Amino acid sequence: MTALTLSTSGAATLRADALVIGIAKGPKGPVVTSGAEAVDKAFDGKLASVLETLGATGAEGEVTKVPALSGLKTPVVLAVGLGPVPEKDDVWAAETLRRAAGAAARALTGTKKAGFALPVESVEDAEAIAEGALLGAYNFTAYQEDKGDTKQPLAEIALLGAKPRDKAFKAAAERAIALAEEINRARDLVNTPPNDLYPESFAAVAQAAAKEHGLKIQILDEKALVKGNYGGILGVGAGSAHGPRLVKISYTHSKAEKSLAYIGKGITYDSGGISLKPAGHNETMKCDMAGAAAVFAAVVAVARLGLKVNVTGWLALAENMPSGTATRPGDVLRMYSGKTVEVLNTDAEGRLVLADALARASEENPDAIVDVATLTGAMMMALGNRTFGIMGNDESFRTAIHEIAEEVGEQSWPMPLPAELRKGMASETADIANMGERMGGGLVAGLFLQEFVGEDIAWAHLDIAGPAFHEAAPFGYTPKGGTGSSIRTLVKLAERTADGDLG
Ligand code: BES
Ligand code: MN
Ligand code: ZN
Repeated sequence: MTALTLSTSGAATLRADALVIGIAKGPKGPVVTSGAEAVDKAFDGKLASVLETLGATGAEGEVTKVPALSGLKTPVVLAVGLGPVPEKDDVWAAETLRRAAGAAARALTGTKKAGFALPVESVEDAEAIAEGALLGAYNFTAYQEDKGDTKQPLAEIALLGAKPRDKAFKAAAERAIALAEEINRARDLVNTPPNDLYPESFAAVAQAAAKEHGLKIQILDEKALVKGNYGGILGVGAGSAHGPRLVKISYTHSKAEKSLAYIGKGITYDSGGISLKPAGHNETMKCDMAGAAAVFAAVVAVARLGLKVNVTGWLALAENMPSGTATRPGDVLRMYSGKTVEVLNTDAEGRLVLADALARASEENPDAIVDVATLTGAMMMALGNRTFGIMGNDESFRTAIHEIAEEVGEQSWPMPLPAELRKGMASETADIANMGERMGGGLVAGLFLQEFVGEDIAWAHLDIAGPAFHEAAPFGYTPKGGTGSSIRTLVKLAERTADGDLG
């Protein structure tokens, strides 16, 4: 993992392999942003025009490298574009800084040490830059024999412009490091191929982390799931050679006044089951445990930050495979809650494992429940590849999560749960079917989940099917593959709850 330190050096005196500075898009060409004054001086005040000669404009995400002149202790200056000059001088949105730092870190893959001299006007700015740089410095190379130097993430980040001895700056750096490490770990889990990451091996990773961070963990294996009547999780896992698991991982604080339950969909591979997905729709289905990875990462991050709130993570782990023992379309499952579900499509499996976890988590009466799932293709149709949908039974809670997501730089949108869609799930033989109308499929899935949430518990459902796995070219701090979507939102929600900011 990439190291990050707050440096006392100035931009001109730091010894490193590269120095990152910001440029903005001004009305008459690129302008150098604050933090890089000493660098500009080393270029005789002509840095902006040198960059412009090389084709730089200051557009967001643009990266331009220049050999450094005398006066600097780094051989290369890397200018990253921040986009148009903000209306208020040098007051940059946190997400702009995060993305710029991420783009710079990505462009420095294979480099050992880089100084970041981006505009820092506040603790929040420093935190955003640290977060973006650490998230951008990520590559998944575990399965490549020949990694060379070319794919090694930037190894060392020296953040300039922060006050290294100031408590608030130190805390911000520590928070950024803990958060980014856990997000990168979740990305690794999502990217790990499904022949190596299956319910049992995922549970073992959680167990090791629990031990390391002093968390309580309980792992229900197949036998325990049978004994506990977890019909949903067992039904989905029935076709696989790798049995399902339900993992409960808990962080508690002795002075906590509130408790949260986070539930993650953990389908380690979604073939569709007997309702098999066609080729072209199954190649990336290792990502179907991204919700469980996010919940796991968030609980560990909350523990590392020592927040004054209790958070229990529930990882509903199963592999959805077709076989002679698999659940068939037409089967009826008796769920943990006692309700019966007619499985009309075995590819609508996420809601089945989540239903058991929702009912089980509700028994402990948390103040709120949030589930996170790569649940429906329909949500991707509605919101695209970068935005997750938020549904729930409590409008103010749903709004709070949307605002928190916005604040941490995660794109999301509130979605309704229209009651009239419930009748599409009416079943001839069971209490409910696992499928309904095609139109509004993401909302239908949300309505199904709602049936398994305990009465009077605030609940929100995040459908991260779009943003969990990034198939297009990397941008900002977002790599190809697993992204770690929703972790920053979950951690911020825990912080807000710990601070007593939420009802
Ligand atoms: N895991 C998929 C949803 C998904 C699709 C996630 C693409 C990420 C990318 C989910 O289990 C699924 O198959 N959903 C079906 C539900 C349908 C059968 C009611 C879908 O969305 O098509
Ligand atoms: Mn499916
Ligand atoms: Zn799925």
